Amino acid sequence: MTETPEKKAAAAASPKDSKPVEPVKLRRRIIWATIWSFVGVNFLMIMRFFFPRTLFEPKTIFTIGTAGDFGLGVETKFQQDYRIWVVKKADRLFVIYARCTHLGCTPDWKPSENKFKCPCHGSGYDSDGVNFEGPAPRPMDRAYVEMNAQGQVVVDTARLFLCEKGKRCQFDDPGAFIPV
Ligand code: FES
Repeated sequence: MTETPEKKAAAAASPKDSKPVEPVKLRRRIIWATIWSFVGVNFLMIMRFFFPRTLFEPKTIFTIGTAGDFGLGVETKFQQDYRIWVVKKADRLFVIYARCTHLGCTPDWKPSENKFKCPCHGSGYDSDGVNFEGPAPRPMDRAYVEMNAQGQVVVDTARLFLCEKGKRCQFDDPGAFIPV
C-alpha cells in the first residue's frame, strides 16, 4: 500500500510527540509556580515574625542634673527628649509630665502668661500644672523624682503621681518631689 502525497504532508505537519506533551508541560509549570508562590509567601511571613515592628520609645528613667542646676520657675529644656518640665519652687523641685489630662496633647509653656496652654482644646494650667480652664479634668501628672548618691536628680516617667477629683491627691507623696 502506498501513501498518498496528502497523507505524507499531513503526517509531516503534525509531529506525533509535540501536540499531547505541550498542555501537560504547561499544567506542570502552573502547578509548580503555584507551589513555589505558596512556599515563598509563607517563607516571607515566617521571616517577618523575626523582625517585629518596634516602637523605640525614649527611656523612662534618666538624670537631669543636680537640684542646684535649676533656678526658680519652669524649665522646659527636657520637653523634646523626655516630655517633662522641671518646676522649682522655694521649698521643692518636682517634674510635670507634659501631657494634657483631657485627651493627651502636649501643652505649651507660656512664660509671659505664667501658664501652660493646651493647643488642642484650650485647657489652661498654672505653673504647678494645676488646671484652671478648659476641659481638662485634673492637674497634669507628676513623675517620680529622687536624688541619687552623686546628687543627681533621677526621674522616672513610668511612675506617675495623680491628683484626681474625689481621690486623695498624690502630689505630696514621697517621690513626687524633692525638698530643696
Ligand atoms: S487635649 Fe488638651 S484640652 Fe483637649
